[in-house]
Amino acid sequence: MHSQTTGHAVSRSRAATVEFDHVTKHYDSVQNRRGAAGAVDDLSFTVPAGKICVLVGPSGCGKTTSLKMVNRLIEPTSGRIRIDTVDISTRERTELRRGIGYVIQQVGLFPHQTIEENVATVPRLLGWQTARRRERAHELLALIGLDPAKYARRYPAQLSGGERQRVGVARALAADPPIMLMDEPFGAVDPIVRERLQNEFLRLQEDLAKTILFVTHDIDEAIKMGDLVAVLEVGGKLAQFGPPEEMLANPASDFVARFVGTDRGLKLLSLFRVGHLPMAEFPTVRVGDDAGTARRRSRTHAFPYELLVDDGRRPIGWIPDKAIPEEGALTADQAVPMSPRLDRRTTLKDALSLLLDANVQAGVVVDRHGALVGVVTVDEIAAWMRQRNASLGETVEGRDGTGASAEGGTEDRRAGPHGVDAHPAPAAADSP
Ligand SMILES: Nc1ncnc2c1ncn2[C@@H]1O[C@H](COP(=O)(O)OP(=O)(O)OP(=O)(O)O)[C@@H](O)[C@H]1O
Ligand SMILES: [Mg+2]
Repeated sequence: MHSQTTGHAVSRSRAATVEFDHVTKHYDSVQNRRGAAGAVDDLSFTVPAGKICVLVGPSGCGKTTSLKMVNRLIEPTSGRIRIDTVDISTRERTELRRGIGYVIQQVGLFPHQTIEENVATVPRLLGWQTARRRERAHELLALIGLDPAKYARRYPAQLSGGERQRVGVARALAADPPIMLMDEPFGAVDPIVRERLQNEFLRLQEDLAKTILFVTHDIDEAIKMGDLVAVLEVGGKLAQFGPPEEMLANPASDFVARFVGTDRGLKLLSLFRVGHLPMAEFPTVRVGDDAGTARRRSRTHAFPYELLVDDGRRPIGWIPDKAIPEEGALTADQAVPMSPRLDRRTTLKDALSLLLDANVQAGVVVDRHGALVGVVTVDEIAAWMRQRNASLGETVEGRDGTGASAEGGTEDRRAGPHGVDAHPAPAAADSP
């Protein structure tokens, strides 16, 4: 979802605060009277304006039910939901829904309508003129990275699963609502496509800044997407609510700890991005530079490789110091193939995994024009996490006097970045 496509497509409607106040839902009134567990049990939490709150939990724990109570497709048995302090039960349903985009579980595009018509569903209900509807639909398709010229006239069956999920998101955004309800919006695609959709959506949200209630049963997706995470247990009870980092560092119960999994340390890595690492300026050589000068300069630093860039500072590859010719000019074909390219938004988990997969120590960080930002090494990621964990460990112990779960957490996190010393070339451990 390429937010740079049309600047004005990203209109900034106001986000809104969403508050659950002791919300309970029983589908079965008889069971209710007998005191049996309902679908949602006494749910209280607040999502601040402009934040993504992920509802996560096993199948049947009341996630969809919770979402549907926000746009009043389902009415709570008791309790209140407020949007910007106004009790939604006092608002007219149609008017309420105008301010809420809804991406339903399983996408649910209308099969006999074109993609353009699907995206323009809400604008049509709002009575927008044909031309304005079309313009908005095309704007949104461009925003989510589907060329309107190619896709607008197609039908859902003519799209891939990932494309359909993008269209579902575009449809929910059509009337530029301050609130979005997204029920497993990326559920029906393979992990690679899902990863891409997640990244695109996070990028989009930086501009949109909507208040989003996002449902998933995938803990990794919850950690990645959520500013806040609400973990639900079967029976619709809130097991923990807070930022993902807190949940990983200090699970509130055995249920949460089990749900989060034993690899909490690695999961923490997915919360941080390459841009979080301090990145020192990295010395480079350019195509056309005098080889003799480059050779002399290479002796002034311990790093045994020179990073070759073109005129736009775009990295071409590494030249081993030993391979720098005695004289003449540096050329592109002297460089060995590039190590993985990262950008500031790459999560540390992805960065580490890319480096380990490529069997290298260093990744090259580039900006959106492909120009060099800096270099990141496996060791730097490991060192940064150790530092981070040390400070987290203190917080955890500070909060939890018993020490038991805190210690477990610290252990896990220390075990994080494996294989740190296992991968030499092309860049050695003594990085800049
Ligand atoms: N219309 C209904 N009538 C009766 N029970 C219902 C109804 N809708 C949902 N339930 C029950 O309420 C509970 C919560 O359902 P809900 O759809 O909210 O779960 P969920 O967390 O979204 O699950 P999943 O991850 O499988 O989508 C389930 O036990 C479900 O069987
Ligand atoms: Mg559901």
